[in-house]
Amino acid sequence: MIKIAETRGPVLDLIKERWSARAFSDQKISEADLHTMIEAASWAPSSMNEQPWRYRYAMQGTDTFEQMWDCLSSGNQPWAKQASVLLLSTAKKNFAKNDSPNRHALHDTGMANAFLMLQATQMKIYGHMMGGYDPVKLQEIFHLPEDEEAVCIIALGYLGTPDQLEEPFRSRELTPRSRKSLEAFISEN
Ligand SMILES: Cc1cc2nc3c(=O)[nH]c(=O)nc-3n(C[C@H](O)[C@H](O)[C@H](O)COP(=O)(O)O)c2cc1C
Repeated sequence: MIKIAETRGPVLDLIKERWSARAFSDQKISEADLHTMIEAASWAPSSMNEQPWRYRYAMQGTDTFEQMWDCLSSGNQPWAKQASVLLLSTAKKNFAKNDSPNRHALHDTGMANAFLMLQATQMKIYGHMMGGYDPVKLQEIFHLPEDEEAVCIIALGYLGTPDQLEEPFRSRELTPRSRKSLEAFISEN
């Protein structure tokens, strides 16, 4: 409950309830549920309906999971080890039809990821996006094509309890979320 956003206006419950958890339980996410989350992502809008997002995933207990986990930074490895799925989000940087640069690719992939996270929240699955990973190691595992860029790795799982985490992660799991006030980033002009 401590993580539910306190908002001024009537913001959607799903948005208020999503947060970046670090404590994951042993419960496994099924492949069907993972595909539902990715399908939700695919319904995001995108420039020219290009759908530049791509996803690669590894289930807990597989060699690929270990390899992907090994790419994570030291601030992410301790808690992400317990995730049920590690999901790599990438963006195709060029339009399929003429290979010209799609300057909206990262934007649209971020939007797809937001849809994915909200679908996950509806399914009581928690996602934690990570930019802290070694891109060179990641490239060695996935051999991403030239025109595909890694965006983030998302740790996914059902919620565990803070006491399974070591500090400083346990405290972070118990700290309310905060945001800038609206005045800090909107203006009428
Ligand atoms: C692109 C991106 C990269 C992030 N990288 C990391 C990361 O490497 N490690 C981490 O613990 N959290 C990471 N986060 C999570 C943010 O810290 C988190 O979303 C932010 O503090 C707001 O908290 P909330 O998601 O619980 O509302 C990342 C989030 C995004 C969107």
